[in-house]
Amino acid sequence: MALEVIASGKTLGAEVRGIDLSKGLEGDELKAVEAAWLEHLVLIFRDQTIDDHQLLNMAESLGGAQATKSRDFYVKAGFTEKSARLSSVPGISIISNLDDNGKPVALHAGSGSQELHWHTDNSYVETPPKGSILHALQTPTNGGGHTSFANQYLAYESLPDKLKAKLSGLHILHDDSRNTAGGLRPTRVSAKSREEVTGPVHPLLRIHPGTGKTALYLGRRYAWPSSHIVELSDDESEVLLDELWTAASKPEITWTHSDWRPGDVLMWDNRCTLHARTQIDPTQAREMHRTLIKGEAIIPG
Ligand code: SIN
Repeated sequence: MALEVIASGKTLGAEVRGIDLSKGLEGDELKAVEAAWLEHLVLIFRDQTIDDHQLLNMAESLGGAQATKSRDFYVKAGFTEKSARLSSVPGISIISNLDDNGKPVALHAGSGSQELHWHTDNSYVETPPKGSILHALQTPTNGGGHTSFANQYLAYESLPDKLKAKLSGLHILHDDSRNTAGGLRPTRVSAKSREEVTGPVHPLLRIHPGTGKTALYLGRRYAWPSSHIVELSDDESEVLLDELWTAASKPEITWTHSDWRPGDVLMWDNRCTLHARTQIDPTQAREMHRTLIKGEAIIPG
């Protein structure tokens, strides 16, 4: 079957048909997927039958797999593979709302059962992954867990020129103490002042190496004194971050995958998108396996 790319009709997202990911991505097929990814930022492949090793191979073809940093926090705090549903396959994260008996729960040791606000994956490490690939194994039939994406090129382009000029040269400290749902990671304590916040500093604007375009790179938004703009005072930083987060998540620059099915494989570009997930009905099972695609040094915008 010939490869087909069907755009979502929104400002990002496309479905790719005619590819069997279990066979691995290479040659012209790989080039076509890379080109579609640069154009649409988020790609979905449906009805795939792959295991964790094939998922990792996909990341390898696209630049290499990158281990998530969050696993280290759980391991350090004594969580086991069973209690926190940590994968025994290096490079794979289990994102699920299932407890250690395989039952869905409203509150999970990981962040697999809660609503997730807008974020980009692992921005709290020195070299964040360029992409993420999520493989659906169990999905709610009508119980939420929809995943939305926002185009951060367009978020940047929508800003007034004066503001764009001001952003170039600013940096955000990306708090590494909190998980995506906003909770403190195991072994971490709440910062009381901005000086106590830990994490890497990244430019607020980044140039995408594949397109040469500028994107907003915000990471995550938590309450003060968390991630902040290092060159600005607390008040200035909070005001500007509020303005930027509003631009970054405007409905007109988003697309939502709202009909997850087992066998869906979704890949997104962390350099130019944000994503978010709605609440999940705690009576319905949701289990995803995720791998990250190795990042490169950030090019400041
Ligand atoms: C994630 O934020 O990486 C997970 C998104 C999802 O579970 O849909």
